[in-house]
Parts: sequence; C-alpha cells; structure tokens
Amino acid sequence: MTSFQNYIIFSIYIALILSTTVAPNITFSEHFAKLRPTTSKKMTRLHFYFHDIVSGKNPTAKIIIRPKNSFGMTAMIDDPLTVDTKPGSTVVGRAQGLYALASQHEPALLMAMNFVFTYGKYNGSALSIMGRNLVVDAVREMPVIGGMGLFRYARGYALASTVRYNPKTGDAVVQYNVTVMHG
Ligand SMILES: *[C@@H]1O[C@H](CO)[C@@H](O)[C@H](O)[C@H]1NC(C)=O
Ligand SMILES: *[C@@H]1O[C@H](CO)[C@@H](O)[C@H](O)[C@H]1NC(C)=O
Repeated sequence: MTSFQNYIIFSIYIALILSTTVAPNITFSEHFAKLRPTTSKKMTRLHFYFHDIVSGKNPTAKIIIRPKNSFGMTAMIDDPLTVDTKPGSTVVGRAQGLYALASQHEPALLMAMNFVFTYGKYNGSALSIMGRNLVVDAVREMPVIGGMGLFRYARGYALASTVRYNPKTGDAVVQYNVTVMHG
C-alpha cells in the first residue's frame, strides 16, 4: 500500500474511534435574550439565625410524616429567627412551613417556608422560600420566590450555613443571609 492509502485508512480508523467515544453534543438550555436590569427595585440584605428545635417539651419542628426509611420524612416548623446565635436573643420573626427529605441518596431537604417578620421595619412583612437544602454542605443556596408587605415582588436568594448541630437531639442553629430585590 502507498503511504497515501495508509493515511486514508488511518484517518477512517481515527474517525470511527472518535464517533464512538465522543459524547453527542447534548444541549438542554440556551440564552435567548438579555434583559435590562430594572432600576426601580430596592435591594435588601437580612441576616439572622434559624433555631430548629426538635427535642424537649417545646419543639419548634415536628415530624409529621415518618416513613420506614428516612426518604419522605416531613417536618412542620414554626422556628424562631433571632438576631444572635443564642436562642434567648431578640426574635425578629419565624420560619413557618415545612421541610421534607426529598432525595433517596443524600440528606437533601425540600424547604418550603415563609419567613414571617415580627420586628422593626419589616414587622408584618414576609418572604417565601422554596429550595433544596443539602444539609451537609457548608453553604446552601435557596431561592426566595416572593414576598408580601414591604417585600412585595421579592426575588432573591438565601444562603444558609449551620452554626450548631446536636446529632443526639437533632436540634440545629442555622445562619441565614438573605439578599432580595423587592418593590
Ligand atoms: C408588630 O406588629 C404588630 C401588629 O401591628 C404589633 O402588635 C406588634 O407590637 C409589633 N411588634 C413589634 C416588635 O414591633
Ligand atoms: C453571612 O453574613 C455574615 C455577616 O455579614 C458573614 O460573616 C458570613 O460570612 C455570611 N455567610 C455567607 C455564607 O455568606
């Protein structure tokens, strides 16, 4: 065979290898437009601590669904939100809603809750959070999907990080940093 024929055979060989090993170019999203950011909105940051108390006489979180394996476990919460990590510090609101173990493979919770503020300027206003909370991660991000009162039209995100967790009781203190745009 001439070297040209060798080259052709080699090229076909390479093409065959590539066609069988390279993953097809799968896309499932596209950016189709850029929006001009609106300037009329306010930006607010909030910082507080979420006390999830499952033990003792006055729990603030109650398991309402307790399946045989933990997948599906669901708790209803009315957790105080305070300015400091100490449970006795000033309460600025409550986290009311539920969390449920929504992963079969990881400790990932579905969080569906309202932060109902009861202190100062935001007394009577609330934010709605709906997101995924992989509790073993140092920082978890959850979307803020809406709000009411001074937080009407709210959109943003919450960053949660565990400050204290007692594996014996299940009690936890979680720091929340919330950033929202609102009306
Ligand atoms: C929050 O608002 C309610 C209802 O207006 C009022 O009764 C309560 O004293 C207020 N709390 C604080 C801490 O301002
Ligand atoms: C949350 O805010 C506090 C206080 O501003 C800051 O020290 C901390 O690093 C922030 N945490 C995250 C995860 O952004």
